[in-house]
Amino acid sequence: MGHPTSGGLVDFTSEEFWSATRRPLDQATGLRPAAYTDEDFYEVEKGRLFGRAWVAVAWMSEVAEPGRLLVRMVGDTSVLIARGLDGALRGFINSCRHRGTELASEDCTVSRMIRCPYHRWGYGLDGTLVASPLFDEVPRADFDPAELSLLPVRVETWGFQVFVCLDEATPPLAEWLGDLPERMGGYGFDGWYVHEKCSFDVAANWKLITENFQEYYHLAWVHPELAKVSRVRDHYRYQGPGLYCGQTTTPVSGDERDDWLVLPPAPGLDSSDSVSGRFVAVFPNLTLAVLPSHAFVMRLEPLSVGATREHCAFLFPPSTDPDTAADAFEATRKFWIEVNNEDVDICERSHRGLALGGAPPGPLSPRFEEPLHRFQNMVADCMT
Ligand code: FES
Ligand SMILES: [Fe+2]
Repeated sequence: MGHPTSGGLVDFTSEEFWSATRRPLDQATGLRPAAYTDEDFYEVEKGRLFGRAWVAVAWMSEVAEPGRLLVRMVGDTSVLIARGLDGALRGFINSCRHRGTELASEDCTVSRMIRCPYHRWGYGLDGTLVASPLFDEVPRADFDPAELSLLPVRVETWGFQVFVCLDEATPPLAEWLGDLPERMGGYGFDGWYVHEKCSFDVAANWKLITENFQEYYHLAWVHPELAKVSRVRDHYRYQGPGLYCGQTTTPVSGDERDDWLVLPPAPGLDSSDSVSGRFVAVFPNLTLAVLPSHAFVMRLEPLSVGATREHCAFLFPPSTDPDTAADAFEATRKFWIEVNNEDVDICERSHRGLALGGAPPGPLSPRFEEPLHRFQNMVADCMT
């Protein structure tokens, strides 16, 4: 797809567009403004990036009970995620096999069937067509319900997180995540539960939010209070193979504040996990901030090229009692929200500068912005 500029057409899928990203870090620049602000870029990105990636779409607890049905947008595709009566999690394209109608418009719970509102065709939670009222009043010889199941979509999970992938050619989630499940295996994420959810609408491109999460270069100036608990000098890379960008803060707490440590740590953490904060951006749209006692997790849902919804959750390990923890956690919770507000403000400002000024991208800091270089190359890999 082309984009008119004074110099002619720009092809966002050509290696030429990404040449400054492909250079080694000490010669690379950030992405061009168009990658954050251009409608045409965003259209291509929905297909080539969100259409290919394992996209985080829900917390496990949102789709725990049999009959639970979630509706999620992945790129331009509406997807259903269903918990079957057999306990299995399945994904489907949200479109009836009769005449294409949207089956569900919002999250809901059904007893045993997904019913189309138009002519009442019914699908089992495994996607099989099981009802087509009145259709056989004048039978058709070629009518075979077995050929009219809902179109399947790949769904996989890691810990408390549900992912969807629209592309059959993409490797399984385990390969996508690389060493991350093993690296973070000590936390036992399967048992962690959502203590509280919240969401924020941000006037910025989704990539700016995850890039901001991936660097602590801005720590001292954007988050003066956070800098007291999470010191720049205590940050290290937390990285192995896999489509993620990770950092760790060890030790997790500075001398002036101990906000991270009011709740009891998850049981059985090793000597490193029990004193560290892990900050991991899973490509493309999930960020995990994992402390010994809790996690603040964010799923980014692009709403347009310049607007993103942050779906956030505070999670606790299974050993933490939600009733007694809430009061103790309140100060920490407020602190997280304040820090997030500071990040939202700077991301919106970053977006405004790119949209309304659009200075060409400058050099990335080798000391602080290597994760962004890694992330931007993942974007380039999808787009080219
Ligand atoms: S479009 Fe769904 S039953 Fe007709
Ligand atoms: Fe920040």
